[in-house]
Amino acid sequence: MGGKYATETLQADEGGIARAAAILREGGLVAVPTETVYGLAARADCDAAVARIYEAKGRPSFNPLIVHVSTIEQARRLAHFSAVAEALAEEHWPGPMTLVLPRREDAGLAAAVSARLPTIALRMPDHPVMRGVLQQAGAPIAAPSANRSGFISPTSAAHVLASLDGRIDAVLDGGECRAGLESTIVAVREDGVLEELRPGPVKVAPRDSSADGGGIEAPGQLASHYAPGKPVRLEAVDAQPDEFLIGFGAIAGDCTLSANGDLIEAASRLYACLHEGARSYKPRIAVAAVPHDGVGIAINDRLRRAATPSD
Ligand code: TXA
Ligand code: MG
Repeated sequence: MGGKYATETLQADEGGIARAAAILREGGLVAVPTETVYGLAARADCDAAVARIYEAKGRPSFNPLIVHVSTIEQARRLAHFSAVAEALAEEHWPGPMTLVLPRREDAGLAAAVSARLPTIALRMPDHPVMRGVLQQAGAPIAAPSANRSGFISPTSAAHVLASLDGRIDAVLDGGECRAGLESTIVAVREDGVLEELRPGPVKVAPRDSSADGGGIEAPGQLASHYAPGKPVRLEAVDAQPDEFLIGFGAIAGDCTLSANGDLIEAASRLYACLHEGARSYKPRIAVAAVPHDGVGIAINDRLRRAATPSD
């Protein structure tokens, strides 16, 4: 695919990780595997590097980025950690949980990272390759999902290249992402109240969450997102002739989220199935119903947005 950059594919071995970290240190852009989805990484402390993320993704500048850290000490230098925040980090890090916390004045982050919000979104990923990159890069790393803004998130290096080949310096190929859905995002408010801004692979204790956030607080949570570029019909029991059917459980399809109705498997396969539907010659996609419990809540959140037309 023609583009401004010759995108290198790096193997996720010692040499590839070292090369990815070197590109990042110099202010470059590398797509990296995490346990959730591939992230488009750049130094979070460098204005020019962060600007390149927005440019490569075509991401609106009002949509802030998640900053990835390798240690809790590094996280504490970027945000104010209340006792509640400390407890959440202790329980869920490393792992698919992003905490939105008050940003420290002296955090030293590029202003664009948090799009002028007084808060910062932090996550410590649980993926050996990403953790190696973070340690060697030696700086906090901003990383949104490695796809063009509004499109399906990537769970393989091939998905990344389908969207960003020629727009980034490299992709570090760590195989398929385990969880397959973006991290749960939780805001820790000053009074210790928790607000779930995006459902994801892990659930926060419901007794602490306020019922409804209202408004668009995680600005990426727009009604239309994860869009395969063709109409998506939900809760299908069978396919029309012009539809690519994504099955679940007893409903077999052109591909299936999980033939035996396993929600964890369905989460890990969701974006791969949407990518397959997007590539299909059929002009429409239909998706079987997915039970609305456990990680099914996060799956249905993504499906609803994938099915919402962008205008
Ligand atoms: O699993 C993940 O979280 C992946 C991997 C790569 O770590 N990253 C990811 O990033 O999903 P992205 O940019 O696709 O989604 C980040 C979301 C957006 O909805 C954004 O609006 C929200 O986080 N966000 C970032 N900073 C925020 C803040 N300070 N307050 C509220 N929401 C914030
Ligand atoms: Mg995204």
